[in-house]
Amino acid sequence: MALWFGADYNPEQWPESVWEDDIRLMREAGVTVMTVGVFSWGLLERSDGEFDFAWLDRVLGLLHSAGIGVDLATSTASPPQWLTAKHPEILMVDEWGHTLSPGSRQHYNPSSATYRRYACRLVQKLAERYGSHPALVAWHVGNEYGNDNPRDYSDETAFAFRTWLAAKYGSIEALNDRWGTAFWSQTYSGFDEVLPPRAAPTFRNPTQLLDFDRFSSDALLDCYRAEADILRAATPAIPVTTNFMGLFQPADYWAWAKEVDFISDDAYPDPAVVDSWKDAALQRDLMRSLGEGKPWILMEQATSAVNWRPLNAPKRPGQMRALSYQALARGADGIMYFQWRQSRRGGEKFHSGMVPFAGTDSRIWREVVQLGHELEQLQAMEGTRTAPARVAIMIDWDSWWSIEQDATPARVDYKALVSAWHSALLDHGIVTDFAGRDTDLSRYDLVVVPSLFVATRATTDALSRYAESGGNLLVTALTAVVDEDAALSAGGYLGSLAATLGVRIKEFAPHPIEEPVALVGEVDARTLQWSEVIQVNDAIVVSRFSGGMADGGAALTRRTTGTGKAWYLAADLTTEGLRAVLEAVLRETAITPEVPGLPADVEAVRRGDWTIVVSHRRDSVSLPVAGLDLLTGGRVSRPVLEPFGVLILETAVSI
Ligand code: GLA
Repeated sequence: MALWFGADYNPEQWPESVWEDDIRLMREAGVTVMTVGVFSWGLLERSDGEFDFAWLDRVLGLLHSAGIGVDLATSTASPPQWLTAKHPEILMVDEWGHTLSPGSRQHYNPSSATYRRYACRLVQKLAERYGSHPALVAWHVGNEYGNDNPRDYSDETAFAFRTWLAAKYGSIEALNDRWGTAFWSQTYSGFDEVLPPRAAPTFRNPTQLLDFDRFSSDALLDCYRAEADILRAATPAIPVTTNFMGLFQPADYWAWAKEVDFISDDAYPDPAVVDSWKDAALQRDLMRSLGEGKPWILMEQATSAVNWRPLNAPKRPGQMRALSYQALARGADGIMYFQWRQSRRGGEKFHSGMVPFAGTDSRIWREVVQLGHELEQLQAMEGTRTAPARVAIMIDWDSWWSIEQDATPARVDYKALVSAWHSALLDHGIVTDFAGRDTDLSRYDLVVVPSLFVATRATTDALSRYAESGGNLLVTALTAVVDEDAALSAGGYLGSLAATLGVRIKEFAPHPIEEPVALVGEVDARTLQWSEVIQVNDAIVVSRFSGGMADGGAALTRRTTGTGKAWYLAADLTTEGLRAVLEAVLRETAITPEVPGLPADVEAVRRGDWTIVVSHRRDSVSLPVAGLDLLTGGRVSRPVLEPFGVLILETAVSI
């Protein structure tokens, strides 16, 4: 299979006369795969049980005759209008009890049995009709599950939630105990009294909220699974996927990743934000990690502007290419876009496409064609892997859901926190994996654990064992604050990690952001809004707080445990602070950057036999490397890379 290069293709928005031209242009651009039918339900099933596949037959036939593979979508992301008119009970209900109207997309309740029945009937038909089509290379189930319908609060959801809870807890007494319903008179006498956490006068039960987030991710996953099961039964040899959305809070992708045959992702870094290449890098690293290092597909990106930000800046010349190579370097086996031809009508007509509204005499088209042809030269990269990372950041959806609830010691933006650590590692030139609670940590030299708010005894013990057996463990504030029931950790914050780290937390001391506190010692830094009063039982104090409630107390500690080291950071820090902490930690390890001495906003990642160097800078820059550049076939030494320039070096050396 060639590297994927293509897009969401929505020919149903165009007269058939345009299709021939589409195919001609796809050939010109070097397109290899197209995703078809993502939102086509209403045209495939015109009314209840009346299917019309003739137009899709012609589309697939045309693509096949051009040698283009088809990633066939199941079309279930946008239920048809006749369906919601006939069965309004499938519509979503928000936490205030408002029913959301059809007329956009994803206007369904994931727990609706009627929605699933109709969706599965269509999927069965598609599997029967296209399962042995020679163009079919993959099934694309739904689209971006949960993007527009993350949580539903209807009566049907209440029923499904109760069933989920009964399976989890077994008895209402167990639920009462673990939800702590003795508080505020919340005791239930039967599951039939339990509701989704709808809008309420004040704080809702935190365990109910956490369980509802878990349930809602599962409900979406059940929708995906119902369709995937049909497809797998019909076509066991065709891989099944659904497109993820990076660090997306409503869906616990650790659970989802187990259910797809390959990982695919949609990424839309904001071209107007100079640093957004770092968000994109995070997303790529997450996808590679979810797939345990296996190649993944960039299923959607924009050739230029999107239409859904308050201001939709275009990608600069070269920026789309640079971001594409970043994805390739970090493990992608395909570069796909939303969408092929920019729409003329509908809510996305201002969104860029491979064929822009300006036509083919345009910068965007030329950049698309250039990339398509370059990828043809890089086929050897397909199936190879990004070099194994030696550092992992632990992320966890339970923690994300829980730490962002109301009524906590401080508002924490979990995604921003995780991104800040990932960025700080990027700034050191280090490629990072993500790890979940169940990831085998032994392959990493350093594991960073940012605010793992929810932690079970099993997780804290696993982290301790990792450090004891030679790992470098960096735990940060707000870790193991609560257990899996969102109850404060037994035996004190940090749970069993307290012994490994050699510290005990006596008091949380968040402070206004206008009153930062300094850290002084081996590492100098500044807090944002968090400090703690901690007691050091058995650890070296690396830095102390200067000022604030914890003045003079330990802020950063290190303890040797077994053959490894365990660090505790009792603060949140500015970006420079995180970088400084990492510098101290990395000094104790053998971890080095891929290419030392790179200028800011230039990344270098090793994949297979190549070192891919990508500049995200808006100026030219000279690089301390030499090697054979695969793209030009020429040898380079201290090359000057133009804005958003790319090098793919064989036998790279640092000079
Ligand atoms: C998402 C969707 C696409 C499209 C793009 C626009 O990624 O999957 O259908 O709406 O956003 O950026």
